[in-house]
Amino acid sequence: MRLVAVRSVTAGAILAKPIYNDNGQILLCEGVELTERSLTRLYELGISFIYIHDKRTNDIEIETGVSLETKRKALKAIKSEFQAISNQVKLKKSLNLDHFEKDFAVIIRAILSDIKNNDNALTLLSDMFVYDSYIFTHSLNVTVYTLGLAVDLGFSDKQLMDIGLGSLLHDVGKMVIPLEILNKPGRLTDEEFQVMQEHSMAGFNILRNIPNLSLLSAHCALQHHERLDGTGYPRGLKHDDIHYYAKMIAIADVFDAVTSHRVYRKPMLPHEGLELLYSGVGNQFDQNLVEAFRRTVAIYPVGLTVTLSDQRVGIVVKQNKQLSTHPVVRIIEENGVELKETYDIDLMKQYNVTIVATEATLAAAAQ
Ligand SMILES: [Fe+2]
Repeated sequence: MRLVAVRSVTAGAILAKPIYNDNGQILLCEGVELTERSLTRLYELGISFIYIHDKRTNDIEIETGVSLETKRKALKAIKSEFQAISNQVKLKKSLNLDHFEKDFAVIIRAILSDIKNNDNALTLLSDMFVYDSYIFTHSLNVTVYTLGLAVDLGFSDKQLMDIGLGSLLHDVGKMVIPLEILNKPGRLTDEEFQVMQEHSMAGFNILRNIPNLSLLSAHCALQHHERLDGTGYPRGLKHDDIHYYAKMIAIADVFDAVTSHRVYRKPMLPHEGLELLYSGVGNQFDQNLVEAFRRTVAIYPVGLTVTLSDQRVGIVVKQNKQLSTHPVVRIIEENGVELKETYDIDLMKQYNVTIVATEATLAAAAQ
């Protein structure tokens, strides 16, 4: 099984993991032969990377961190609760969300149990979803990443619940942003961006009116676009004035945004997203949190083709949870020659060899 950019797959390749819609139904089955048409369609639907069959790596297992079942249930709950909130807000009704907290608490517990029971670094590339609205998958992904970070940092169960609710709902204010701005297929104008920025305050106002919901979760919506140096919004808060939970969500939010497919730009691979976070350490993001985040996510996901510093080429076959920059790699090519007999090397035991390029970066250089 190999993880490849849809743009570089040729017709005839065999799909190795199914593609789902955001209701969890299968759109394309495992084992199907991909055609030019289905590949173009996948790209148009917002799928940038897929797993294809590869006989040299048939034995590898994709370590997900969060199960498909959990993701499926979470997406369903996010979709229906967000729509309920937006309907009630639009009708100017007072919020009556009986199932709300209970529904989300079940989801957060399921995500937490998956994370805690799984010793692997998190990767959200493993189950491919085609979504009808970016906001639902984004809310789920941000929750998974933030909770992964929070578990690593040792927060209590009560705190994890507040953090989980805060991250699930951080963008709920977007439900009241006009659709033509929210779903605009391209960059926003300055005026549109100003309207978009109102989602943090809108979210805060929605959430603080929900009975029983911790005000801390509401503050996650309010503050997740604040940055350490005061260049964020809506209030330009700095350093210690920004709540710790909001600083965590900011990292997960940016990471998911840049590693997701958007119409106006190509997605980054996880290691590129992480480099972007590192470039903002100190002025935008908290250094300790970015470092903890690096421990949590699969920087080089299983299945990815990588080139090593000694020019050998291989496929990532296993994560090293202690050091996700150094996974186990199956070597498939040496000195430009494809090997008949592949072998695995553990980069954690070979500090003189590092990953210098990935399939996507190689493709970018070749263009
Ligand atoms: Fe946001």
